[in-house]
Amino acid sequence: MKVAVYSTKAYDRTFLERANAAQDNSHELRFLEMRLSSETAALSGHCDAICAFVNDTLDREVLTNIMDRGIRLVALRCAGFNNVDLVAARDMGIAIARVPAYSPEAVAEHTIALILSLNRKIHKAYARVREGNFALDGLVGFDLKGRTIGIVGTGKIGICLARIMRGFGCHVLGFDPRHDPAFVETGAEYVDLPDLFAQADIVSLHCPLTPHTHHLVDAEAIATMKPGVMIINTGRGALVEARSLIRGLKSGRIGHVGLDVYEEESDLFFENLSGTIIQDDVFARLLTFPNVLITGHQAFLTIEALTAIAETTIGNISQFAATGRPNHTVSVEMLA
Ligand code: NAI
Repeated sequence: MKVAVYSTKAYDRTFLERANAAQDNSHELRFLEMRLSSETAALSGHCDAICAFVNDTLDREVLTNIMDRGIRLVALRCAGFNNVDLVAARDMGIAIARVPAYSPEAVAEHTIALILSLNRKIHKAYARVREGNFALDGLVGFDLKGRTIGIVGTGKIGICLARIMRGFGCHVLGFDPRHDPAFVETGAEYVDLPDLFAQADIVSLHCPLTPHTHHLVDAEAIATMKPGVMIINTGRGALVEARSLIRGLKSGRIGHVGLDVYEEESDLFFENLSGTIIQDDVFARLLTFPNVLITGHQAFLTIEALTAIAETTIGNISQFAATGRPNHTVSVEMLA
């Protein structure tokens, strides 16, 4: 199949070409650096499928555009599918595929990196030591042992995180409408969301972004959390209402914030904007806090994850070419 690969970075190209070569180069991959939008959809002309990433736009307008060009498959090279209008895709008969699991460890371990860096102020210590400043004032952290972490969404990543946090000697609480025995086997326990917010020293978000989870952490939720709580979001930006985070940080109610995702990240992340002025005042304000650590949606970025993403994506495309249905279909029912 001829595939238009949007939002291509050098690492995408390397890993996708390798996975395609392992399947006798069965697909012709056309790599495009730009994001998919109504303005760039025309670049998929003469292709049979589109390969898209987290910040590509797949709303009804774009889907109509690519359907008119004969495209019947969108292969997402990510797990989340909140950027796709699934109802529109179903109406138009466009199959949506994703990579449901590639390396939950990659995201769980990045979550740990954020927790440890924030707690032990590694981001501040790094800068200080390079300047010859070896003073320790302001670098006091806390032992993780004995602390309580609340994991919202106990799927693949949430369970992996629970296992690691149990290794630190933490109490692990989880909230998920679906209870998984594997989560409890780590030594963690399920509680209701209000109990999780009330008891957790660290709240970490690992559920998908859906209409139910949009702004799950807002001013109301923050008011029920422990004073000094650490909030970590490596899920999707819009799980958190960023203005409420700022208010919570200013008042001291929130002790630390670690973000790998941001609601308006599509205008910022994955690009080098170091020579430009950031126009997003909410994001710019978040960057000013010493107790906020932001990474640009890199939790997935490990060799193992990129290999698995590429192999599953090429597998989805091959299966669609052979049967008209990819291996890992995303359906409207998954929004429920
Ligand atoms: P998963 O599908 O294995 O687990 C998600 C869990 O969330 C499920 O157990 C589901 O029942 C639960 N859930 C659904 N609605 C919920 C709600 N209202 N409250 C609490 N839990 C709810 O997915 P996985 O692989 O663990 O990934 C989780 C999320 O992490 C993805 O949806 C994606 O948005 C994000 N992600 C972020 C990455 C990054 O690089 N920052 C990379 C990969 C995933």
